[in-house]
Amino acid sequence: MMSEFALFLPCAAGVEDYLLAEVQGLAGAQQAHSLVRLRGGVRVRGDWALVLRLNLWSRLAQHVLIELARAPYQTEGDLYDLAVHVPWEHWFSPRETFRVDVTAHASPLRSLQFAALRVKDALADRFRANAGGVRPSVDTHRPDVAVRVHLTATEATLYLDTSGAPLFKRGWRFDKGAAPLKETLAAAMLAASGWWNPATRQVAALPLYDPCCGSGTIVIEAAQLAMGMAAGGERHFAFERLRPHDGTLWAQAKGEARAAAGAQPDAAAGVRIFGSDVAHRMVDFAEHNAQRAGVERMLQLRGGDALQRLPPCAAPGVIVMNPPYGERIAVAGVAAAGRARPGREGFGRPSSEADVAGAAGADDRGDAFFRLLSTHWKLHYDGWTAWLLSPDAQLPGRLRLKASRRVPLWNGPIECRLLRFDIQARRERPIGD
Ligand SMILES: C[S@@+](CC[C@H](N)C(=O)[O-])C[C@H]1O[C@@H](n2cnc3c(N)ncnc32)[C@H](O)[C@@H]1O
Repeated sequence: MMSEFALFLPCAAGVEDYLLAEVQGLAGAQQAHSLVRLRGGVRVRGDWALVLRLNLWSRLAQHVLIELARAPYQTEGDLYDLAVHVPWEHWFSPRETFRVDVTAHASPLRSLQFAALRVKDALADRFRANAGGVRPSVDTHRPDVAVRVHLTATEATLYLDTSGAPLFKRGWRFDKGAAPLKETLAAAMLAASGWWNPATRQVAALPLYDPCCGSGTIVIEAAQLAMGMAAGGERHFAFERLRPHDGTLWAQAKGEARAAAGAQPDAAAGVRIFGSDVAHRMVDFAEHNAQRAGVERMLQLRGGDALQRLPPCAAPGVIVMNPPYGERIAVAGVAAAGRARPGREGFGRPSSEADVAGAAGADDRGDAFFRLLSTHWKLHYDGWTAWLLSPDAQLPGRLRLKASRRVPLWNGPIECRLLRFDIQARRERPIGD
């Protein structure tokens, strides 16, 4: 078995630079030469200890994949040949179940399903020939091992997924609410806002507030960062079932993570993080999630309308939020009454989800909500900086505020912007303006 692997960490589009900084910090200086920023992810070389470390700590990667083979291809037969030469029996035993997933960008192949089938056949044949005639079974729902194939127009890459369930699943969420943000995207928002530095893993000494906190994703992510907690300390990973798994090394990595979290109480004590939501049910969800995430003592969670809540502390502070958008997450509170139905507008081509939201609940674009929100902020939040994630290209207009930064970030298939607004007290204006 090799002692060093080529690793690929996929991430949401727009997150690559932050992930590069995070991986650089986790991999250390000796791997700096091997770091490559690609579209949709980061490549790095590293040993098994780094595989564990990246899985345990990365807040921005979706998975940690080991590259097993890469070659030019033209047909499904070429994929079979590539896969049959991978020593799968070194990675897992025939007792483990597996699944093959294929993603493609400009592949000439007609059926990705057939491509997956050929890779599955190669893997099974390889086991039969090298593991005493037995082969592992396929389990498409809960496989022990996930094999990922990525096809470009000319090149095929085979990966072994060491993470299993996507890394945004931190292991603490039971209460979801209607539209929870992925934890990886919440971390990306905190990185893009500058509140969290993914390279040094430090957080800013500024209070953080999410006035539409829902199930608490942003504030819980922020609190774990402030406490120096590992992202995946509460979950299991696919690598625990792979042959190279070393229980002692893993126990040591987790022990170091626990010690690191315990070593930061003073730093964390100075950080103030607040969340509120108009729906008391959501605040309950956030509280339960915070307890399971081990950060309840770091958070101050309240019920209340974002249009009425006063700042939780003196300026300066940072607001980070994904405000209500579309029917599923309708604006509530004082702005809920008497809404209009504006048209469908977004960044780029609206995705199906944005489409549905726009068509079905267009009034929930919340013109009244955003107009009242900016009025409220100008009256009470002088000196705060607000970062809002939204797919709505018209948001600055609705807020009647000028965005001082726009960071493109994708929420699954939905193109969004993280917009920065520097809130200043309302100045007297001439009548009629
Ligand atoms: C897009 S969701 C936020 C999801 C959240 N980031 C999470 O991860 O669960 C928007 C939230 O805004 C809340 N909301 C709607 N109108 C509000 C208002 N006027 N004041 C405060 N919260 C409001 C909804 O209850 C919902 O939880």
